[in-house]
Amino acid sequence: MNFSDETIVVQNKVEIVNCLPEIGKQAVVNEIIAGLKDSPKHISPKYFYDETGSRLFEEITKLDEYYPTRTEKAILSSLWDKLALEFDALNIVELGSGDASKIRLLIEQIPKYLLPQITYIPIDISIDALEWAAQELTLEFPEMDIQGFAADFLFDLSMIPKEKKRLFCFLGSTIGNFNPDEARRFLQMLGQEMQSGDFLLLGMDMVKNVDLIEKAYNDAQGVTDQFNKNILHVVNRLVGADFRHEYFDHLAFYNRNKNRIEMHLRARKEMVVHLKATGETIRLNSGETIHTENSHKFTPNDIAKFGQWAGLQTKAVFNDRKGYFSLAYYEKGN
Ligand SMILES: C[S@@+](CC[C@H](N)C(=O)[O-])C[C@H]1O[C@@H](n2cnc3c(N)ncnc32)[C@H](O)[C@@H]1O
Repeated sequence: MNFSDETIVVQNKVEIVNCLPEIGKQAVVNEIIAGLKDSPKHISPKYFYDETGSRLFEEITKLDEYYPTRTEKAILSSLWDKLALEFDALNIVELGSGDASKIRLLIEQIPKYLLPQITYIPIDISIDALEWAAQELTLEFPEMDIQGFAADFLFDLSMIPKEKKRLFCFLGSTIGNFNPDEARRFLQMLGQEMQSGDFLLLGMDMVKNVDLIEKAYNDAQGVTDQFNKNILHVVNRLVGADFRHEYFDHLAFYNRNKNRIEMHLRARKEMVVHLKATGETIRLNSGETIHTENSHKFTPNDIAKFGQWAGLQTKAVFNDRKGYFSLAYYEKGN
């Protein structure tokens, strides 16, 4: 997370604005330390995504075990016509855009003559991911404007330009990383931000065979293990802590009561961690865990419930043949 300046990166058709300084570094430090002092300890998954974390996540999406990305991509690759968007001009807003490899599949299907009327607006907490994605997309679609925002979508969405009709995309089942309260607050905020005639495409990983799900978060090459432990490096940088990743094990298991994968870091031994930001120390017992991520899995009831929370009408639900993944398509009415 870059708090140092309000960098505006501009190349020909690309502009990236850094909104992270508005959150303020102190608020981030406070949030992380409060999580480490809580019982059980936790760190928000948004802190996975520094430059290394974004690269590791991209690697995860290419793993054989990680079925969600290839399943969602297969649905997206023939979706444009089914969205039946009628427009003179359109903004495509992608929340948590990452490497933008999914939106590319959708944009590829748009007739070329329409691209000059479209602005792609990626929003991500990782400014590195935004820059790489914008560079690649502008080479591939030079007719299209790109206006990115480095921002925390849980904090504020009001920077999103409003002048055209908008297709909001929230892919990768990132909604599954929120706990139910966060999901409700986020969808309410998004629904309020949306205007009549705007659409939302929401990617949701569905409840399915537990073995398949657990394998996706425990890959044989250990990339998810590295991704999970990388959060400690991010925390070390942000709060001046001295966590040693080699003193932790990666733990990912399915919680059947809550329909979610939980990722934790389990301490291999008792330790004391120093936090330079406040001069405090954090004590961990051997075997104690830090909860780093949830990845909720959903049912058709959740699709309807999310629409209600956001005040949106469900227009369609697109699935793969096995029903592993759903893209729920909502519209904001009058
Ligand atoms: C699970 S990844 C999904 C990436 C991509 N949408 C996909 O489907 O492959 C989550 C993405 O959301 C971003 N992200 C996570 N929390 C965020 C937050 N609070 N605000 C903005 N972006 C966030 C991460 O940097 C990452 O790119």
